[in-house]
Amino acid sequence: MKILVTGGAGFIGSNFIYYMQKAHPDYSLVCLDKLTYAGNLETLEEALKNPLFKFVKGDIADREFVFSLFEEEKFDIVVNFAAESHVDRSIENPGVFLTTNILGTQTLMDAARATGVKRYHQVSTDEVYGDLPLDRPDLFFTETTPIHTSSPYSASKASADLLVQAYHRTFGLPITISRCSNNYGPYHFPEKLIPLMIANALNDKPLPVYGQGLNVRDWLYVEDHCRAIDMIIHNGRVGEVYNIGGHNEKANIDVVKTIIKALGKSEDLITYVTDRAGHDMRYAIDPTKIHDELGWLPTTTFDEGIQKTIDWYLNNRAWWEKIISGEYQNYYEKMYGNR
Ligand code: NAD
Ligand code: DAU
Repeated sequence: MKILVTGGAGFIGSNFIYYMQKAHPDYSLVCLDKLTYAGNLETLEEALKNPLFKFVKGDIADREFVFSLFEEEKFDIVVNFAAESHVDRSIENPGVFLTTNILGTQTLMDAARATGVKRYHQVSTDEVYGDLPLDRPDLFFTETTPIHTSSPYSASKASADLLVQAYHRTFGLPITISRCSNNYGPYHFPEKLIPLMIANALNDKPLPVYGQGLNVRDWLYVEDHCRAIDMIIHNGRVGEVYNIGGHNEKANIDVVKTIIKALGKSEDLITYVTDRAGHDMRYAIDPTKIHDELGWLPTTTFDEGIQKTIDWYLNNRAWWEKIISGEYQNYYEKMYGNR
């Protein structure tokens, strides 16, 4: 079995590669990644020691390159993690989100069709469903919740999902789509809430909470996401969408306070800053379908997962300190300097 993992030098893709190397030691894995600001080859250092793993640098939207790679490698399965993934960046610069997230998806599917790939799996997000109100805790996203996007990022992911479904119906491409809630864990780029708060708290820097910090996210430990994708690509029904999430809703301010407490820092570090434009209020996944059909359930509780994550950031300072000492400084100044 040969699997192409696009975006494997990023947060979830790299965790997926490590997960698959353990779960299926006989599989060949190829990682295709452009190594944008979010991709980091150092993350794959251990994976690269395995002779059944190969890294290829390239752009999923580069047609000629993608086609020649597919012709050469003859993949059985494609799992597409590659994306521009940060909502705040999509508000600053939407264009690249459309190119990578939509045209890149199209390019991969065209190459998959041309070379007889047996399963094309699109890693999507719960953000395609828009948001839920805070005063209706009885509401959850199901696979039939209408697509209703808020940011250029979520609109680009939703566009890709529609295209994936169209390729299934029109061309018979054997696809599956997963829509997961917020992930956290090792190798999470420090522009995102949890790693940003851990890094800032460790450096005694202000913790920038958007708005009043009341927005709710449904957190899932990254390994549980990886296991769900493994189940879907092997046993999921072709043409289907599967939501992934573990009923673990938390207000941002509570997540930040948990991190502060675990690190023994002061809540005085919390700084309320101007809200994100179009900020989604609440995400909450109903995972009934993946549970009933594939038997998936999350195995890591938030208390366990956040402690493991904090420990990882404490034990791997070199990984994130290198990131935040480079180009990231300009990004941080631009996003938070006058907020
Ligand atoms: P990430 O930003 O950490 O990683 C993205 C990776 O894709 C990077 O390695 C980057 O170099 C690569 N990439 C970007 N553009 C590329 C291109 N044109 N060609 C090839 N590679 C390219 O993102 P992540 O958080 O790991 O998210 C991975 C996927 O999961 C995304 O599709 C995202 O929409 C989805 N997702 C993320 C979450 C989350 O909480 N992080 C939740 C649900 C779904
Ligand atoms: O739900 C899945 C999505 O989760 C994925 O599709 C996205 O790729 C991923 O980035 C994530 O999107 P969010 O926008 O929810 O994640 P982020 O970590 O950027 O923000 C989480 C919440 O924290 C959100 O309500 C905004 C808030 N926030 C974020 C940052 C970076 C802050 O209050 N302060 C911050 O500095």
